[in-house]
Amino acid sequence: MGFDAITFPAGTIFLVTGGAGFIGSNLCEALLHKGVVVRCLDDLSQGKEDNIRPFLLSPDFTFIKGDIRELDTCMAACAGADYVLHQAAWGSVPRSIEMPLLYEGINIRGTLNMMEAARQCGVKKFVYASSSSVYGDHPVLPKKEGQEGKLLSPYAVTKRVNEEYGRLYKELYGLDTYGLRYFNVFGRRQDPHGAYAAVIPKFIKQLMNDEQPTINGDGKQSRDFTYIENVIEANLKACLAPSDVAGQAFNVAYGGREYLIDIYYELCKALGKDIEPIFGPDRPGDIKHSNADISRARELLGYAPEWSFERGIKAAIEWYKGNL
Ligand SMILES: NC(=O)c1ccc[n+]([C@@H]2O[C@H](COP(=O)([O-])OP(=O)(O)OC[C@H]3O[C@@H](n4cnc5c(N)ncnc54)[C@H](O)[C@@H]3O)[C@@H](O)[C@H]2O)c1
Repeated sequence: MGFDAITFPAGTIFLVTGGAGFIGSNLCEALLHKGVVVRCLDDLSQGKEDNIRPFLLSPDFTFIKGDIRELDTCMAACAGADYVLHQAAWGSVPRSIEMPLLYEGINIRGTLNMMEAARQCGVKKFVYASSSSVYGDHPVLPKKEGQEGKLLSPYAVTKRVNEEYGRLYKELYGLDTYGLRYFNVFGRRQDPHGAYAAVIPKFIKQLMNDEQPTINGDGKQSRDFTYIENVIEANLKACLAPSDVAGQAFNVAYGGREYLIDIYYELCKALGKDIEPIFGPDRPGDIKHSNADISRARELLGYAPEWSFERGIKAAIEWYKGNL
């Protein structure tokens, strides 16, 4: 259960791309606790130096400021690495609808550069962030790998293309790739600021500042909100997964279903606020319900998430109380 018992030999080198972002910085931190060598590649376009500042004190941590759109940068970062946890990308469905070309360049070309660099450098495992958005408009719940529908945003297209390259790099070149389809991750260091912030940190920040949050739609949309510890577990377990399950993508979620409106009132209660939300229009590219069947990751990666939504949200609220 969890990832406490997972160990790697001393001197093992991990490259975390997007390591100054929300998920990447949590991966760097967990890896440093395991006593391995960690390289973080990030261009700081979305991430923050503050997220990695404490790690810079560790002799096992190196920060490389660079852009995954440059193959030379990817090659230099991958040289000698045993494992790559590729998180660098631009997120946000609505922003991708506004800027499709940028998303193509970063999320598709950047990821292809990283896979190519990993292949040329002889990396053992290439674990990369995919997304539940690849399920598009497929109506079946829970979402199960192999039942993908029509894609609804440029962001979803980029993640789908990443998965196709992930499959091809295994089949054509023997690179062990594992795509992790994250479902609405939340937890410490997730950025609450800006127009494209994820809903949980945004609501927490607004409520703490006595602002009135806007819910897009009627609030009856549901998601499989996944606490960051479960995502760390999936990444570490993918590094230890057998080669014969590489080349595919795996749902990474808790396997629950939370309604946005319920979360909103839970946050109000936890923060002692009595503020009614504003209801705005639905967002284009969004689907109404999304929850995951995690049996593939359970069976093939040994993924056994320990952090329920309730447990995770308590920890997240505590963190934001001390860090906003
Ligand atoms: N947070 C979620 O709920 C969620 C859900 C599904 C998928 N994902 C995926 O997980 C990964 C990490 O997401 P996150 O929430 O931590 O986002 P984030 O924005 O906090 O982190 C992404 C990091 O990548 C860096 N980056 C962006 N473009 C880069 C480039 N060209 N070169 C180098 N670095 C670059 C950013 O500066 C940032 O630090 C992304 O691939 C995202 O698409 C996240």
